Amino acid sequence: MMDTQNRERLLDVRALTVEIDGRNGPAIVVDGIDLHVDKGETLGVVGESGCGKSLTMLSLMRLLPNKIKVAKGTATFAGRDLQTMSNAELRKVRGGDIGFVFQDPMTSLNPVMRVGDQICEPLIYHRRMKKSEARVRAVELLRLVGIPGPEERLQAFPHELSGGMRQRVMIAIGLACNPKLLIADEPTTALDVTIQAQIVDLVKDLRAKLGMSVVWITHDLALIAGLVDRVAVLYAGTVVEDAPVDELYARPSHPYTRGLLSSIPKLSDPPASRLSSIGGTPPEPGRRPKGCPFAPRCPLVEAVCHEKVPRLEPLSGSSNHRAACFVVQRMQEAA
Ligand SMILES: Nc1ncnc2c1ncn2[C@@H]1O[C@H](COP(=O)(O)OP(=O)(O)OP(=O)(O)O)[C@@H](O)[C@H]1O
Ligand SMILES: [Mg+2]
Repeated sequence: MMDTQNRERLLDVRALTVEIDGRNGPAIVVDGIDLHVDKGETLGVVGESGCGKSLTMLSLMRLLPNKIKVAKGTATFAGRDLQTMSNAELRKVRGGDIGFVFQDPMTSLNPVMRVGDQICEPLIYHRRMKKSEARVRAVELLRLVGIPGPEERLQAFPHELSGGMRQRVMIAIGLACNPKLLIADEPTTALDVTIQAQIVDLVKDLRAKLGMSVVWITHDLALIAGLVDRVAVLYAGTVVEDAPVDELYARPSHPYTRGLLSSIPKLSDPPASRLSSIGGTPPEPGRRPKGCPFAPRCPLVEAVCHEKVPRLEPLSGSSNHRAACFVVQRMQEAA
């Protein structure tokens, strides 16, 4: 675990709010998120489908789809404001200092372009490499992400590769320009378990070699336990808990986090209890409850939870473990 003092802040997201223009007016999908990543640090962003993980990251890069926009908040990268910098400046950051691995390699790789050309593109654009230099680097990158026969693979089209290979190509593109920060959005979904583990190990290795920071987005807390330094748990577009990863496992506090952790099956569990999960579904955009967004599903819910929105507050005895829950906060005070 790294020293938490004196670290350089690389990414700093404050009160980020994203809205979708719907038939009944704007609906909030990301509701005042605070996140940060320090130099060399790996942050896991965890939460179930639809909680706003991808939109949060796309908004940082100003890649939000039509009718979805940032309504409030700031995001800075190495001290520079991502929301207000010019398009030209942003293009330099995107794919340069910040590498992206998008959620779905089937749709985000260009199906009619050879893999080699797709890896060379950012090198030619961001690093002003000649085509021949870029190809040498592309071979190096494919080797780095564990693709056998990289020279021949450069000629392949995406459909000629397996799902795991395509995912590795996406990671190679994300890493092409030696980014200071790699944002990987569910880079292993849809892959089988052994390949998922291989890709986690690969990123771990590369992080150590290249000294980059990583944001790893997932719904699978167990997968990233050995990879991340800190975890932010998202629920319905808000951070409900954040903590160093060991602390989160030792002392999960928000009822949602506890639910997520208890739905991770252990081999020692009797078969019937292995897949206990949280009942109910998250609120749809535009139908957020008035108080805590988790209240309708929460086993500990109290009257106040339906009235007010809890703030993310440090837990007693810890400066870097925070939870947004009235019940947890009250129990802490009482203890
Ligand atoms: N293009 C879009 N148009 C309308 N609604 C959208 C669009 N993209 C996302 N949403 C909605 O915004 C919310 C957040 O979506 P987002 O893709 O950020 O979720 P996610 O946490 O990445 O989920 P997943 O784990 O499934 O990838 C969801 O309710 C989703 O339905
Ligand atoms: Mg997503």
